[in-house]
Amino acid sequence: MTSKKNIVIAFDLYGTLLSIESIAKELATHFGDEKAGSIAALWRRYQLEYTWRMNSMGLYKPFSDITRTSLQHALAEHSVTLSSTNITNLMKAYDSLGTFPDVEPGLKAVSSDPSISAYVFSNGTDAMVSSSVNQSPSLSPQSSVFKGLITVQEVELFKPHPKVYYHLAEEVGKTKEEMGSIWLVSGNPFDVVGARAVGMQAAWVDRAEKGWSDRLGELASGGPTLVVSGVEDAVRKIKNWTEKKGEQSGAGLNKEEAAMGPG
Ligand code: LAC
Repeated sequence: MTSKKNIVIAFDLYGTLLSIESIAKELATHFGDEKAGSIAALWRRYQLEYTWRMNSMGLYKPFSDITRTSLQHALAEHSVTLSSTNITNLMKAYDSLGTFPDVEPGLKAVSSDPSISAYVFSNGTDAMVSSSVNQSPSLSPQSSVFKGLITVQEVELFKPHPKVYYHLAEEVGKTKEEMGSIWLVSGNPFDVVGARAVGMQAAWVDRAEKGWSDRLGELASGGPTLVVSGVEDAVRKIKNWTEKKGEQSGAGLNKEEAAMGPG
């Protein structure tokens, strides 16, 4: 047993550690920059919308199927098509996504701090997440920092269903009563609100510095515990937060939380 408090951080994958913007570049080879950007944005929107609809319908299909099908929807709305070979190549682009610039120093900070246990936590399938992490040119050199790649595959539900966050807790060795000791770091507001709704702490990555605008937290359990500018900032602020929390022995909001208001 170490005397230092163990910090568990689960990093969302797509859009948080890995940039899915590079998919637009692949699309641009077919449709030009402008149309590709618009297709990529709609593709991502439908990819997530499909997961939420499947959750609502009580159905499950692997995230790889969801990703492929939602691409076809986005293409159809732009009145374009792609051959199945080209679609397969686009799907392969998920295996060579790049990281955001703040990810490398952030994960270095994790690896040099034995009190932090880091995980990847994603909607992807085990195979998809493993390929994305281990084949990404910029993420793979740091993949050993993760104690595990945790996916929703086993529970057959997608974020933000509460069961996927409880599954995460189980995988990291925590009980439902200990949800407040697990951190999610995510650039996806729906993921942040979902984690907060089950009592987790969440750092929202606001790389565009647009500020938190998602209002659903007001009807649930609040917005992010912390707003951060990237993964490096997330690690630093989570450590500060945990230290302060330790000093306050759990009572009341810390300064940064209080500044956030009720979320
Ligand atoms: C994930 C989705 C939210 O990686 O991008 O879970």
